Amino acid sequence: GDVAVLVPAAGQGVRLGPGGPKALRSLRGEPLLVHAVRRMTAAPSVGCVVVAAPPESVPAVRDLLSHLSERVEVLVVPGGASRQRSVAAALAATPDRYDTVLVHDAARALAPPELVERVAGAVRQGHAAVIPVLPVVDTIKHVQPSGEVMATLDRSALRAVQTPQGFRRSALVEAHAAAVDDHTDDAGMAEKIGVPVWTVPGEESALKITRPLDLAIAELLLDGVS
Ligand code: C5P
Repeated sequence: GDVAVLVPAAGQGVRLGPGGPKALRSLRGEPLLVHAVRRMTAAPSVGCVVVAAPPESVPAVRDLLSHLSERVEVLVVPGGASRQRSVAAALAATPDRYDTVLVHDAARALAPPELVERVAGAVRQGHAAVIPVLPVVDTIKHVQPSGEVMATLDRSALRAVQTPQGFRRSALVEAHAAAVDDHTDDAGMAEKIGVPVWTVPGEESALKITRPLDLAIAELLLDGVS
């Protein structure tokens, strides 16, 4: 595998146990982070996964992930004060031999190995930054704080963005070096320094599990109802 996957999971309030924070919230008895990392390690291109954990939880997260793969190296490093800093910490800990680096949100716990291969494949073909996207089903409006509609956006030109997002390593390093304020979207940082960002089709199963409804959908997907 020539691909490393970075997983920022150091969000505030992250702790082990039921009712805990996002990355460690339980889905059918296992933390989202475990589901997510298992699927990343199942992708043949992936040789290394680097998780940024809350500094005090590094040993616990290491234990949680240590038995997931015999083939793939799973590293756990202390995260930073923001998502961006956590990604930077994971990137700094990524062995030099990985030229393609993906960034993946643990909340997209069911993103399938095929999606990893699709994103990594586009980077390999020469795209410096790659994002998986889906069409937008709702009409999207730009609304003022007062509640008044300012504009209706052309839905056909809009896409919803998922992870894993893929990068030529140098592009991600440069994007992070140039970023001044905090970003939650790595491809957006690459865009800011003029790196062209390419899209590939996303997957419904890579949904972001944030609300109770998402958790219910994820359980159905795990049960094979899809
Ligand atoms: O809190 P928020 O939803 O913005 O976090 C998005 C992702 O970034 C989560 O996976 C979270 O664990 C991660 N994060 C991090 N380090 C931080 C804050 C957030 O890795 N300091």
